Amino acid sequence: MTYNLEGRSILVTGGASGIGRSVAILSGEAGAAVTVTDLDPDRGNAVVDEIGRKGGQAQFVRLDVTQEAQHHAAVAAAVKAFGKLDGSCNAAGMSFEGRPVHEINPDYWDKLYAINVRGVFFSFRAQVPAMLEAGKGSIVNIASTSAMAPFPNAAEYCSSKGAVVTASRAAALDYAKSGIRVNAILPGATRTPMLQGEMDKYDGLEEMMIADCPQGRLGHPDEIAFAVRWLLSDEASFVTGSAMVVDGGLSVP
Ligand SMILES: NC(=O)c1ccc[n+]([C@@H]2O[C@H](COP(=O)([O-])OP(=O)(O)OC[C@H]3O[C@@H](n4cnc5c(N)ncnc54)[C@H](O)[C@@H]3O)[C@@H](O)[C@H]2O)c1
Repeated sequence: MTYNLEGRSILVTGGASGIGRSVAILSGEAGAAVTVTDLDPDRGNAVVDEIGRKGGQAQFVRLDVTQEAQHHAAVAAAVKAFGKLDGSCNAAGMSFEGRPVHEINPDYWDKLYAINVRGVFFSFRAQVPAMLEAGKGSIVNIASTSAMAPFPNAAEYCSSKGAVVTASRAAALDYAKSGIRVNAILPGATRTPMLQGEMDKYDGLEEMMIADCPQGRLGHPDEIAFAVRWLLSDEASFVTGSAMVVDGGLSVP
């Protein structure tokens, strides 16, 4: 039983920023060799450099999660560089347009679903075969508390995260006997560049989110990544099909 990520090969989507960045860095610190993927090579390579400075091993591979072939290429790159793939965190995501559901632009809806839902589906298609090959694996998909406690003017986002939770739980059943665990993390409001973008757009949003959170604050991306890192490790060996809320109590009331 390994209680850290020593010797593991972990792939992160959306690894250049926010939660994915924290997952990549904390996984590297725990001994994993990390394949950092994202649309953004500059910020992605900066994460690789940071892992390297801390004594870890990492590589950047550009991956647009809407493109299935790029998922397969990224997994192949992880296997080529680090010998196998035995863990992943699928964190790439897109935020809401900010309109009531009947006013959401259908193109926006489709674009968001292509990233948040189809992107996760393609992750399964590329990552699972490599994990079956390795005989074990742990997949952690980043959903959101909005999957169970939706908020207004974000039906496309909240429903996409509901799909991620249910797809993760269903997939957990598909692979439960094959040594692959699949879990979803549901973060609450977490201070990342994505959320900062929303807070810059809407006056009073930050104060409202802080007031809504029983802990009275926003989360730090590392606080989400600690939970992901645990799910990636053997400490979570009996945990599959879970939808783990990490939200300072936001979804309780
Ligand atoms: N920040 C929050 O409060 C919060 C709360 C709940 C869930 N989440 C979820 O956490 C995940 C990470 O979000 P974050 O807040 O860290 O945002 P972020 O914007 O800081 O990071 C998201 C990353 O995804 C990448 N990305 C976007 N589209 C992509 C694509 N097509 N292909 C590959 N990469 C792409 C971006 O380049 C970026 O690096 C998202 O799925 C988001 O929905 C965030």
